[in-house]
Amino acid sequence: MDTLVIEGGRRLKGRARISGSKNAALPILFAAVLCEGSAALRNVPKLRDIATTLKLLRALGCEIEEREDEIVVSPKALVPAAPYDLVCTMRASVLCLGPLLARVGKAKVALPGGCAIGARPVDQHLKALEKLGARFSLEEGYILGECDRLTGARVTFDMPTVGGTENALMAAVLADGETVLENCAREPEISDLAKFLNACGAKIEGYGESVIRIQGVGSLRGATYEIMPDRIEAGTFMVAAGITRGELELENCPYDALEAVVAKLKLMGMDIRRADSGSVIASADAPLECVDARTEPYPGFPTDMQAQLMALLCVSRGTAVVEERIFENRFMHVQELLRMGADIRASGGTAVVRGVERLSGAPVMASDLRASASLVLAALAADGVTEISRIYHLDRGYEAIEKKLAAIGANIRRKQNKS
Ligand code: UD1
Repeated sequence: MDTLVIEGGRRLKGRARISGSKNAALPILFAAVLCEGSAALRNVPKLRDIATTLKLLRALGCEIEEREDEIVVSPKALVPAAPYDLVCTMRASVLCLGPLLARVGKAKVALPGGCAIGARPVDQHLKALEKLGARFSLEEGYILGECDRLTGARVTFDMPTVGGTENALMAAVLADGETVLENCAREPEISDLAKFLNACGAKIEGYGESVIRIQGVGSLRGATYEIMPDRIEAGTFMVAAGITRGELELENCPYDALEAVVAKLKLMGMDIRRADSGSVIASADAPLECVDARTEPYPGFPTDMQAQLMALLCVSRGTAVVEERIFENRFMHVQELLRMGADIRASGGTAVVRGVERLSGAPVMASDLRASASLVLAALAADGVTEISRIYHLDRGYEAIEKKLAAIGANIRRKQNKS
Protein backbone atom coordinates (compact mmCIF):
# COMPACT_ATOMS: atom_id res chain seq x y z
CA MET A 1 0.00 0.00 0.00
CA ASP A 2 1.29 3.47 -0.89
CA THR A 3 2.30 6.03 1.71
CA LEU A 4 2.89 9.76 1.41
CA VAL A 5 6.06 11.18 2.89
CA ILE A 6 5.91 14.89 3.64
CA GLU A 7 8.62 17.09 5.11
CA GLY A 8 6.84 20.08 6.56
CA GLY A 9 7.69 23.69 7.10
CA ARG A 10 7.74 24.95 3.53
CA ARG A 11 5.74 27.97 2.47
CA LEU A 12 3.56 27.07 -0.53
CA LYS A 13 3.51 29.52 -3.38
CA GLY A 14 2.33 29.32 -6.97
CA ARG A 15 -0.56 28.23 -9.11
CA ALA A 16 -2.77 25.16 -8.77
CA ARG A 17 -5.55 24.10 -11.11
CA ILE A 18 -8.67 22.77 -9.44
CA SER A 19 -9.98 19.55 -11.01
CA GLY A 20 -13.55 18.66 -11.87
CA SER A 21 -15.84 17.91 -8.95
CA LYS A 22 -15.95 14.29 -7.80
CA ASN A 23 -19.33 14.72 -6.14
CA ALA A 24 -20.83 16.27 -9.29
CA ALA A 25 -19.20 13.83 -11.70
CA LEU A 26 -20.46 10.71 -9.87
CA PRO A 27 -24.22 11.42 -10.10
CA ILE A 28 -23.85 12.81 -13.62
CA LEU A 29 -22.10 9.62 -14.77
CA PHE A 30 -24.95 7.59 -13.29
CA ALA A 31 -27.50 9.95 -14.84
CA ALA A 32 -26.07 9.09 -18.26
CA VAL A 33 -27.85 5.72 -17.85
CA LEU A 34 -31.12 7.65 -18.30
CA CYS A 35 -30.18 8.81 -21.81
CA GLU A 36 -31.06 7.09 -25.05
CA GLY A 37 -28.06 8.72 -26.74
CA SER A 38 -24.48 9.22 -25.60
CA ALA A 39 -23.36 11.67 -22.92
CA ALA A 40 -19.95 13.28 -23.45
CA LEU A 41 -18.67 14.53 -20.09
CA ARG A 42 -15.77 16.94 -19.77
CA ASN A 43 -13.68 17.96 -16.78
CA VAL A 44 -14.19 14.55 -15.13
CA PRO A 45 -11.44 14.16 -12.49
CA LYS A 46 -9.07 11.20 -12.69
CA LEU A 47 -9.86 9.51 -9.40
CA ARG A 48 -10.35 6.05 -8.01
CA ASP A 49 -14.07 6.64 -7.34
CA ILE A 50 -14.51 7.64 -10.99
CA ALA A 51 -12.69 4.50 -12.16
CA THR A 52 -14.99 2.42 -9.91
CA THR A 53 -18.04 4.18 -11.37
CA LEU A 54 -16.91 3.51 -14.94
CA LYS A 55 -16.43 -0.17 -14.07
CA LEU A 56 -19.90 -0.26 -12.58
CA LEU A 57 -21.41 1.47 -15.62
CA ARG A 58 -19.78 -1.13 -17.86
CA ALA A 59 -21.23 -3.89 -15.67
CA LEU A 60 -24.63 -2.23 -16.06
CA GLY A 61 -24.40 -2.40 -19.84
CA CYS A 62 -22.95 0.98 -20.84
CA GLU A 63 -20.24 1.43 -23.41
CA ILE A 64 -17.54 3.76 -22.12
CA GLU A 65 -15.05 5.62 -24.24
CA GLU A 66 -12.28 7.38 -22.34
CA ARG A 67 -10.89 10.13 -24.54
CA GLU A 68 -8.16 12.64 -23.69
CA ASP A 69 -10.57 15.39 -22.60
CA GLU A 70 -13.93 13.65 -22.19
CA ILE A 71 -15.62 10.45 -21.17
CA VAL A 72 -18.42 9.25 -23.40
CA VAL A 73 -21.09 7.05 -21.83
CA SER A 74 -23.46 5.18 -24.17
CA PRO A 75 -26.10 2.99 -22.51
CA LYS A 76 -26.72 -0.19 -24.55
CA ALA A 77 -28.58 -3.30 -23.36
CA LEU A 78 -28.87 -2.42 -19.67
CA VAL A 79 -28.24 -5.10 -17.02
CA PRO A 80 -29.85 -3.71 -13.84
CA ALA A 81 -27.55 -5.35 -11.27
CA ALA A 82 -24.79 -3.58 -9.33
CA PRO A 83 -22.48 -6.21 -7.80
CA TYR A 84 -21.20 -6.01 -4.23
CA ASP A 85 -17.49 -6.02 -5.10
CA LEU A 86 -17.92 -2.67 -6.89
CA VAL A 87 -20.50 -1.10 -4.60
CA CYS A 88 -18.69 -1.93 -1.34
CA THR A 89 -15.83 0.47 -2.03
CA MET A 90 -18.01 3.42 -2.92
CA ARG A 91 -21.22 4.51 -1.28
CA ALA A 92 -22.24 6.67 -4.23
CA SER A 93 -22.93 3.46 -6.20
CA VAL A 94 -26.42 3.59 -4.73
CA LEU A 95 -27.02 6.44 -7.18
CA CYS A 96 -27.62 3.91 -9.95
CA LEU A 97 -30.87 2.90 -8.23
CA GLY A 98 -33.02 5.81 -9.49
CA PRO A 99 -31.73 5.73 -13.08
CA LEU A 100 -32.12 1.94 -13.40
CA LEU A 101 -35.69 1.95 -12.06
CA ALA A 102 -36.63 4.82 -14.37
CA ARG A 103 -35.03 3.23 -17.41
CA VAL A 104 -35.66 -0.52 -17.02
CA GLY A 105 -38.11 -0.85 -14.12
CA LYS A 106 -35.73 -3.06 -12.15
CA ALA A 107 -32.62 -2.73 -10.02
CA LYS A 108 -30.55 -5.00 -7.84
CA VAL A 109 -28.00 -2.94 -5.95
CA ALA A 110 -25.77 -4.07 -3.11
CA LEU A 111 -26.18 -1.99 0.05
CA PRO A 112 -23.35 0.55 -0.09
CA GLY A 113 -20.09 0.78 1.84
CA GLY A 114 -17.71 3.72 1.35
CA CYS A 115 -16.16 6.02 3.96
CA ALA A 116 -16.55 4.75 7.51
CA ILE A 117 -18.21 7.92 8.78
CA GLY A 118 -21.25 6.84 10.66
CA ALA A 119 -24.28 4.75 9.79
CA ARG A 120 -25.21 6.64 6.58
CA PRO A 121 -28.51 4.91 5.81
CA VAL A 122 -30.35 5.08 2.47
CA ASP A 123 -33.90 5.11 3.85
CA GLN A 124 -34.62 8.52 2.30
CA HIS A 125 -33.57 7.31 -1.15
CA LEU A 126 -35.94 4.36 -0.85
CA LYS A 127 -38.78 6.41 0.59
CA ALA A 128 -38.63 8.88 -2.31
CA LEU A 129 -38.47 6.16 -4.96
CA GLU A 130 -41.36 4.31 -3.28
CA LYS A 131 -43.46 7.48 -3.51
CA LEU A 132 -42.79 7.43 -7.26
CA GLY A 133 -44.08 3.85 -7.46
CA ALA A 134 -41.07 1.60 -6.82
CA ARG A 135 -41.30 -1.45 -4.54
CA PHE A 136 -38.29 -2.67 -2.56
CA SER A 137 -37.15 -5.72 -0.69
CA LEU A 138 -33.81 -6.55 0.91
CA GLU A 139 -32.21 -9.91 0.16
CA GLU A 140 -28.75 -11.09 1.12
CA GLY A 141 -27.34 -7.59 1.36
CA TYR A 142 -28.92 -6.45 -1.89
CA ILE A 143 -31.69 -3.92 -2.39
CA LEU A 144 -34.12 -5.35 -4.94
CA GLY A 145 -36.30 -2.74 -6.59
CA GLU A 146 -38.95 -2.95 -9.26
CA CYS A 147 -41.64 -0.78 -10.76
CA ASP A 148 -43.90 -0.26 -13.74
CA ARG A 149 -43.55 3.21 -15.24
CA LEU A 150 -42.80 5.61 -12.37
CA THR A 151 -45.45 8.25 -11.60
CA GLY A 152 -44.83 11.81 -10.43
CA ALA A 153 -45.53 12.47 -6.74
CA ARG A 154 -44.88 14.86 -3.87
CA VAL A 155 -41.91 13.78 -1.74
CA THR A 156 -40.85 15.48 1.50
CA PHE A 157 -37.41 14.44 2.75
CA ASP A 158 -36.99 14.07 6.53
CA MET A 159 -33.65 15.85 6.24
CA PRO A 160 -31.76 17.43 3.34
CA THR A 161 -29.85 14.53 1.80
CA VAL A 162 -27.55 15.05 -1.17
CA GLY A 163 -27.67 11.50 -2.52
CA GLY A 164 -31.37 11.09 -1.71
CA THR A 165 -32.24 14.28 -3.60
CA GLU A 166 -30.11 13.14 -6.56
CA ASN A 167 -31.64 9.66 -6.73
CA ALA A 168 -35.17 11.05 -6.58
CA LEU A 169 -34.37 13.71 -9.18
CA MET A 170 -32.94 11.15 -11.60
CA ALA A 171 -35.96 8.88 -11.23
CA ALA A 172 -38.48 11.71 -11.54
CA VAL A 173 -37.21 13.06 -14.87
CA LEU A 174 -38.64 10.01 -16.67
CA ALA A 175 -41.77 9.62 -14.46
CA ASP A 176 -45.30 10.30 -15.70
CA GLY A 177 -46.42 13.82 -14.74
CA GLU A 178 -45.15 16.24 -12.12
CA THR A 179 -42.91 15.46 -9.14
CA VAL A 180 -42.38 17.96 -6.33
CA LEU A 181 -39.40 17.30 -4.06
CA GLU A 182 -39.51 19.18 -0.74
CA ASN A 183 -36.78 19.78 1.86
CA CYS A 184 -34.16 19.00 -0.79
CA ALA A 185 -30.44 19.39 -0.27
CA ARG A 186 -29.21 22.53 -2.04
CA GLU A 187 -25.58 21.59 -2.73
CA PRO A 188 -24.12 23.01 -5.97
CA GLU A 189 -23.43 19.45 -7.20
CA ILE A 190 -27.20 18.82 -7.27
CA SER A 191 -27.60 21.92 -9.44
CA ASP A 192 -24.85 20.62 -11.73
CA LEU A 193 -26.74 17.31 -12.07
CA ALA A 194 -30.00 19.14 -12.82
CA LYS A 195 -28.29 21.31 -15.46
CA PHE A 196 -26.89 18.20 -17.14
CA LEU A 197 -30.32 16.52 -17.11
CA ASN A 198 -31.96 19.66 -18.52
CA ALA A 199 -29.31 19.72 -21.28
CA CYS A 200 -30.48 16.18 -22.11
CA GLY A 201 -34.12 17.32 -22.38
CA ALA A 202 -35.38 17.03 -18.78
CA LYS A 203 -37.67 19.68 -17.28
CA ILE A 204 -36.38 20.58 -13.82
CA GLU A 205 -36.98 23.85 -12.01
CA GLY A 206 -35.97 25.09 -8.57
CA TYR A 207 -32.65 23.24 -8.20
CA GLY A 208 -30.39 24.98 -5.71
CA GLU A 209 -33.51 25.69 -3.64
CA SER A 210 -35.28 23.41 -1.20
CA VAL A 211 -38.28 22.70 -3.46
CA ILE A 212 -37.53 21.16 -6.85
CA ARG A 213 -40.24 20.65 -9.49
CA ILE A 214 -39.83 18.12 -12.25
CA GLN A 215 -42.13 17.59 -15.23
CA GLY A 216 -41.52 14.05 -16.43
CA VAL A 217 -40.56 13.54 -20.09
CA GLY A 218 -40.80 10.42 -22.29
CA SER A 219 -37.09 10.09 -22.96
CA LEU A 220 -33.76 11.89 -22.66
CA ARG A 221 -31.20 12.37 -25.38
CA GLY A 222 -27.51 12.63 -24.57
CA ALA A 223 -25.56 15.88 -24.28
CA THR A 224 -22.05 17.25 -24.02
CA TYR A 225 -21.52 18.66 -20.54
CA GLU A 226 -18.68 20.19 -18.55
CA ILE A 227 -18.60 19.14 -14.89
CA MET A 228 -18.22 21.97 -12.34
CA PRO A 229 -14.88 22.37 -10.51
CA ASP A 230 -14.41 20.70 -7.12
CA ARG A 231 -15.25 23.11 -4.30
CA ILE A 232 -13.80 20.79 -1.64
CA GLU A 233 -10.48 20.44 -3.43
CA ALA A 234 -10.43 24.24 -3.84
CA GLY A 235 -11.18 24.72 -0.13
CA THR A 236 -8.44 22.26 0.77
CA PHE A 237 -5.90 24.27 -1.24
CA MET A 238 -7.08 27.47 0.44
CA VAL A 239 -6.31 25.85 3.79
CA ALA A 240 -2.93 24.72 2.41
CA ALA A 241 -2.13 28.37 1.71
CA GLY A 242 -3.26 29.34 5.22
CA ILE A 243 -1.47 26.60 7.12
CA THR A 244 1.88 27.25 5.38
CA ARG A 245 1.45 31.07 5.38
CA GLY A 246 1.79 30.86 1.65
CA GLU A 247 0.11 32.39 -1.36
CA LEU A 248 -1.74 30.29 -3.92
CA GLU A 249 -3.47 31.22 -7.13
CA LEU A 250 -6.28 28.75 -7.73
CA GLU A 251 -7.40 28.36 -11.33
CA ASN A 252 -10.83 26.99 -12.17
CA CYS A 253 -11.95 27.74 -8.60
CA PRO A 254 -15.74 27.65 -7.90
CA TYR A 255 -15.62 30.74 -5.68
CA ASP A 256 -19.38 31.27 -5.46
CA ALA A 257 -19.89 27.73 -4.16
CA LEU A 258 -17.37 28.36 -1.36
CA GLU A 259 -18.99 31.27 0.42
CA ALA A 260 -19.13 29.70 3.89
CA VAL A 261 -15.56 28.37 3.66
CA VAL A 262 -14.15 31.67 2.39
CA ALA A 263 -16.02 33.59 5.09
CA LYS A 264 -14.58 31.33 7.80
CA LEU A 265 -11.01 31.51 6.53
CA LYS A 266 -11.23 35.29 6.18
CA LEU A 267 -12.51 35.55 9.74
CA MET A 268 -9.42 33.62 10.83
CA GLY A 269 -7.27 36.23 9.09
CA MET A 270 -6.65 34.85 5.61
CA ASP A 271 -6.81 37.05 2.55
CA ILE A 272 -8.91 35.45 -0.21
CA ARG A 273 -9.96 37.32 -3.31
CA ARG A 274 -10.81 36.98 -6.95
CA ALA A 275 -8.14 38.16 -9.38
CA ASP A 276 -8.95 39.86 -12.69
CA SER A 277 -7.96 36.63 -14.45
CA GLY A 278 -10.88 34.86 -12.75
CA SER A 279 -8.51 32.87 -10.53
CA VAL A 280 -8.78 33.07 -6.77
CA ILE A 281 -5.80 34.16 -4.67
CA ALA A 282 -5.59 32.76 -1.14
CA SER A 283 -2.84 33.84 1.23
CA ALA A 284 -1.84 34.31 4.85
CA ASP A 285 1.16 36.17 6.16
CA ALA A 286 0.57 36.25 9.91
CA PRO A 287 -0.58 33.68 12.47
CA LEU A 288 -4.31 32.97 12.08
CA GLU A 289 -6.89 33.19 14.86
CA CYS A 290 -9.12 30.31 16.00
CA VAL A 291 -12.81 30.69 15.10
CA ASP A 292 -15.67 28.32 16.02
CA ALA A 293 -17.28 26.28 13.27
CA ARG A 294 -20.36 24.12 12.85
CA THR A 295 -21.07 21.93 9.84
CA GLU A 296 -24.43 22.34 8.15
CA PRO A 297 -26.14 21.46 4.88
CA TYR A 298 -25.29 23.86 2.02
CA PRO A 299 -25.03 26.86 2.08
CA GLY A 300 -23.62 26.29 5.59
CA PHE A 301 -20.06 25.20 6.33
CA PRO A 302 -19.52 21.82 4.59
CA THR A 303 -18.83 18.66 6.57
CA ASP A 304 -16.37 17.76 3.80
CA MET A 305 -14.15 20.70 4.92
CA GLN A 306 -14.40 20.08 8.68
CA ALA A 307 -11.27 17.93 9.00
CA GLN A 308 -9.16 20.31 6.90
CA LEU A 309 -10.35 23.32 8.92
CA MET A 310 -9.49 21.48 12.11
CA ALA A 311 -5.91 20.99 10.93
CA LEU A 312 -5.67 24.73 10.41
CA LEU A 313 -7.21 25.50 13.82
CA CYS A 314 -4.60 23.22 15.44
CA VAL A 315 -1.87 25.74 14.58
CA SER A 316 -3.88 28.95 14.97
CA ARG A 317 -4.02 31.26 18.00
CA GLY A 318 -6.65 30.71 20.68
CA THR A 319 -9.38 28.10 21.10
CA ALA A 320 -12.18 26.98 18.80
CA VAL A 321 -15.19 24.72 19.17
CA VAL A 322 -15.92 22.56 16.13
CA GLU A 323 -19.34 20.93 15.89
CA GLU A 324 -20.00 18.14 13.40
CA ARG A 325 -23.74 18.13 12.72
CA ILE A 326 -24.03 16.04 9.54
CA PHE A 327 -22.26 12.76 10.27
CA GLU A 328 -21.58 10.94 13.50
CA ASN A 329 -18.09 9.48 13.81
CA ARG A 330 -16.41 12.08 11.60
CA PHE A 331 -13.58 12.96 13.97
CA MET A 332 -11.29 10.11 13.02
CA HIS A 333 -8.54 12.58 12.13
CA VAL A 334 -8.45 13.77 15.76
CA GLN A 335 -6.49 10.76 17.09
CA GLU A 336 -3.91 11.18 14.35
CA LEU A 337 -3.62 14.96 14.80
CA LEU A 338 -3.01 14.32 18.52
CA ARG A 339 -0.05 12.13 17.54
CA MET A 340 1.37 15.16 15.77
CA GLY A 341 1.14 17.27 18.91
CA ALA A 342 -2.27 18.90 18.47
CA ASP A 343 -4.38 19.85 21.49
CA ILE A 344 -7.92 18.64 20.79
CA ARG A 345 -10.63 17.31 23.09
CA ALA A 346 -13.39 15.56 21.22
CA SER A 347 -16.58 14.16 22.68
CA GLY A 348 -19.61 13.12 20.61
CA GLY A 349 -19.96 15.56 17.76
CA THR A 350 -18.00 18.38 19.42
CA ALA A 351 -14.28 19.04 19.47
CA VAL A 352 -12.46 21.78 21.35
CA VAL A 353 -9.24 22.75 19.60
CA ARG A 354 -6.56 24.75 21.36
CA GLY A 355 -4.00 26.12 18.95
CA VAL A 356 -0.39 25.08 19.50
CA GLU A 357 2.77 26.79 18.33
CA ARG A 358 4.03 23.87 16.19
CA LEU A 359 2.98 20.37 15.16
CA SER A 360 5.62 17.72 14.77
CA GLY A 361 5.89 15.10 12.05
CA ALA A 362 4.86 11.54 12.95
CA PRO A 363 3.76 8.32 11.29
CA VAL A 364 -0.04 8.60 10.90
CA MET A 365 -2.82 6.66 9.26
CA ALA A 366 -5.49 7.96 6.90
CA SER A 367 -8.96 6.76 7.85
CA ASP A 368 -11.37 8.40 5.42
CA LEU A 369 -11.14 10.75 2.49
CA ARG A 370 -11.30 14.15 4.18
CA ALA A 371 -9.47 12.97 7.31
CA SER A 372 -6.60 12.06 4.99
CA ALA A 373 -6.62 15.57 3.54
CA SER A 374 -6.40 17.06 7.03
CA LEU A 375 -3.33 14.93 7.78
CA VAL A 376 -1.65 16.12 4.59
CA LEU A 377 -2.34 19.72 5.59
CA ALA A 378 -1.07 19.20 9.13
CA ALA A 379 2.06 17.53 7.73
CA LEU A 380 2.74 20.51 5.45
CA ALA A 381 2.92 22.75 8.52
CA ALA A 382 4.64 20.34 10.90
CA ASP A 383 8.31 20.23 11.91
CA GLY A 384 10.05 17.20 10.46
CA VAL A 385 8.76 14.28 8.44
CA THR A 386 5.25 12.81 8.45
CA GLU A 387 4.53 9.51 6.80
CA ILE A 388 0.85 8.96 6.01
CA SER A 389 -0.25 5.40 5.37
CA ARG A 390 -3.49 4.07 3.83
CA ILE A 391 -3.62 6.92 1.36
CA TYR A 392 -5.94 4.98 -0.95
CA HIS A 393 -8.66 7.06 0.73
CA LEU A 394 -6.99 10.20 -0.59
CA ASP A 395 -6.79 8.77 -4.10
CA ARG A 396 -10.57 8.36 -4.05
CA GLY A 397 -11.08 12.11 -3.99
CA TYR A 398 -7.99 14.19 -4.82
CA GLU A 399 -6.52 14.11 -8.32
CA ALA A 400 -2.72 13.90 -8.41
CA ILE A 401 -2.47 15.56 -5.00
CA GLU A 402 1.25 14.99 -4.49
CA LYS A 403 2.07 16.36 -7.95
CA LYS A 404 -0.06 19.45 -7.42
CA LEU A 405 1.45 20.11 -3.98
CA ALA A 406 5.02 19.47 -5.15
CA ALA A 407 4.50 21.97 -7.99
CA ILE A 408 3.77 24.74 -5.46
CA GLY A 409 6.72 23.98 -3.24
CA ALA A 410 5.78 21.12 -0.94
CA ASN A 411 8.36 18.50 -0.10
CA ILE A 412 6.15 15.49 -0.73
CA ARG A 413 6.61 12.10 -2.33
CA ARG A 414 4.69 8.90 -2.73
CA LYS A 415 6.38 5.77 -1.52
CA GLN A 416 5.19 2.50 -3.00
CA ASN A 417 5.25 -0.28 -0.45
CA LYS A 418 5.24 -3.80 -1.80
CA SER A 419 3.24 -5.53 0.94
C1 UD1 B 1 -22.80 13.51 0.00
C2 UD1 B 1 -21.35 13.64 -0.45
C3 UD1 B 1 -20.41 13.64 0.75
C4 UD1 B 1 -20.84 14.71 1.76
C5 UD1 B 1 -22.33 14.60 2.08
C6 UD1 B 1 -22.84 15.75 2.95
C7 UD1 B 1 -21.34 12.59 -2.63
C8 UD1 B 1 -20.90 11.45 -3.48
N1 UD1 B 1 -21.03 12.54 -1.32
O1 UD1 B 1 -22.91 12.25 0.67
O2 UD1 B 1 -19.09 13.90 0.29
O3 UD1 B 1 -20.10 14.57 2.95
O4 UD1 B 1 -23.11 14.58 0.88
O5 UD1 B 1 -22.60 16.95 2.33
O6 UD1 B 1 -21.91 13.55 -3.12
N2 UD1 B 1 -29.22 10.32 5.64
C9 UD1 B 1 -30.19 9.49 6.16
N3 UD1 B 1 -30.91 8.72 5.29
C10 UD1 B 1 -30.68 8.73 3.94
C11 UD1 B 1 -29.69 9.57 3.44
C12 UD1 B 1 -28.97 10.37 4.31
O7 UD1 B 1 -30.43 9.45 7.37
O8 UD1 B 1 -31.36 8.00 3.21
C13 UD1 B 1 -28.43 11.18 6.57
C14 UD1 B 1 -26.95 10.80 6.61
O9 UD1 B 1 -26.70 9.76 7.51
C15 UD1 B 1 -26.33 12.12 7.01
C16 UD1 B 1 -27.23 13.17 6.33
O10 UD1 B 1 -28.44 12.50 6.05
O11 UD1 B 1 -26.42 12.29 8.40
C17 UD1 B 1 -26.66 13.75 5.05
O12 UD1 B 1 -26.25 12.71 4.19
P1 UD1 B 1 -26.27 12.88 2.60
O13 UD1 B 1 -26.46 14.31 2.28
O14 UD1 B 1 -27.23 11.92 2.02
O15 UD1 B 1 -24.80 12.44 2.20
P2 UD1 B 1 -24.34 11.62 0.94
O16 UD1 B 1 -25.22 11.90 -0.23
O17 UD1 B 1 -24.10 10.22 1.33
